[in-house]
Amino acid sequence: MSMKYHIITYGCQMNRSDSERIAAVLEKIGYSPTLDKDKADLIVINVCSVRQSAVDRVYGQISNIKNKNLKKIKNQKIVLTGCILPKDKENLKNKTDLILDIDQLMSWPQILSKIETKLKNKQFKNFKFKNYLNIFPKFSTFPIAYVPIMTGCNNFCSYCVVPYTRGREISRPAEEIICEVKELIKRGYKMIILLGQNVNSYQGKLKTQKEKIIRFPKLVKMINDLDGNFWLTFISNHPKDLSDKLIETMARCEKVMSYLHLPVQAGDDEILRRMNRNYTITHYKNLIKKIRLKFFAIRKGIEKNINISTDIIVGFPGETKKQFLNTTKLMKEVKFDMAYIAKYSPRPATSAAKLKDDVSQEEKERRWKILAKILEKTALEKNKKYLNKIVEVLIESKKDNSLFGRTKTFKQVKVSNFQSQDSDLIGKFVKVKIKKVTPWGMEGELFY
Ligand code: SAH
Ligand code: SF4
Ligand code: F3S
Repeated sequence: MSMKYHIITYGCQMNRSDSERIAAVLEKIGYSPTLDKDKADLIVINVCSVRQSAVDRVYGQISNIKNKNLKKIKNQKIVLTGCILPKDKENLKNKTDLILDIDQLMSWPQILSKIETKLKNKQFKNFKFKNYLNIFPKFSTFPIAYVPIMTGCNNFCSYCVVPYTRGREISRPAEEIICEVKELIKRGYKMIILLGQNVNSYQGKLKTQKEKIIRFPKLVKMINDLDGNFWLTFISNHPKDLSDKLIETMARCEKVMSYLHLPVQAGDDEILRRMNRNYTITHYKNLIKKIRLKFFAIRKGIEKNINISTDIIVGFPGETKKQFLNTTKLMKEVKFDMAYIAKYSPRPATSAAKLKDDVSQEEKERRWKILAKILEKTALEKNKKYLNKIVEVLIESKKDNSLFGRTKTFKQVKVSNFQSQDSDLIGKFVKVKIKKVTPWGMEGELFY
């Protein structure tokens, strides 16, 4: 009987991308995927630790599986990986079969053969990768592909667990990235999303010219210049490292989407200082102004209005009402297209964990709601610009009687008037006339 695996992924796109590499490895050694968790012989949980709630879900998930295992005779193996703090590793050790580091993915086959009898005495000859990112993933979001260009983070924002779970920054060699993107283009992928905790500090080597360092704007240009009809974007950017050169490159490279995710985290200089973010609000607002002007000057049609999204944390230790008010001011001024608003959650190991988490849960909730309300207004205002316009949309998926896709400004569009023979439109660029907008998306009809 064949062995089946099921992967549960928490957290950001980086984890989702890692899961695509895990899937590739498992399938190479004889596992086949199952969507039904109960049918799996091996369950991999790819953990996120960015907030306590994410960690709690992992604990919940594990005891669920364990309880079911007790009732049935089947003994499912549980493997944990991803972003896990040492303390949680300690606590979870006895509740799972293995805890494996994602950057050791190349040696998983050998390790798994110790807990899975069917893998015993197998030879894993093809696993001589130097780096886990060399493993060609089982891409699962056609026509969109997430391509990691670096792992880890050197920034140590005081609230953030990532440098402790993913370690220091390591950039992937430029040729390796280009090679992967070329293959994706060949396979018909139409949207390439480069991934890194701070893509702006990418510093990759070129194997052919050992001493030469490729920085991020150059990498963007190199990918943009590849043949093929595709769109390119990247997450996340850090306001302290987003250079004028990158702004110029983005605006001029025609395949780069008119989209920028630029996490601000707070609208108050003192809070930013205590978050160890290394920029001021003036600097942030200047960046926004520069990039908006550049896109407006160089791009055409809806691409003139670049889509800008951000991340914000409310209730950082010691955040006063006045400091919070500065965040509301910033949001009203910048008018974001989208903001991912989080309530501060103290993380063990981080430097902010030493500060008293003194903004109450109710107050965090209240602040969250205020920001969500501002966002609802600005996002709607932004989307209204699309009403009755005919825009190019990359079709991503089909659900019930609708197609879903994105504009080159990364706006989600639902297409309702399609005929069944149009379902092969997935992965194609089509023209859509926008008929209805909400703060969170828009709807339109295929324009023949
Ligand atoms: N590297 C990315 C973000 C990684 S974490 C960047 O710098 O933009 C994703 C988001 O989670 C962060 O931007 C932040 O807004 C939020 N976050 C991180 N740590 C948090 C914490 N302790 N409490 C609440 N939100 C947090
Ligand atoms: Fe965390 Fe800051 Fe690094 Fe982003 S830049 S991953 S928020 S430490
Ligand atoms: Fe991503 Fe969570 Fe790790 S946000 S980098 S999966 S801690």
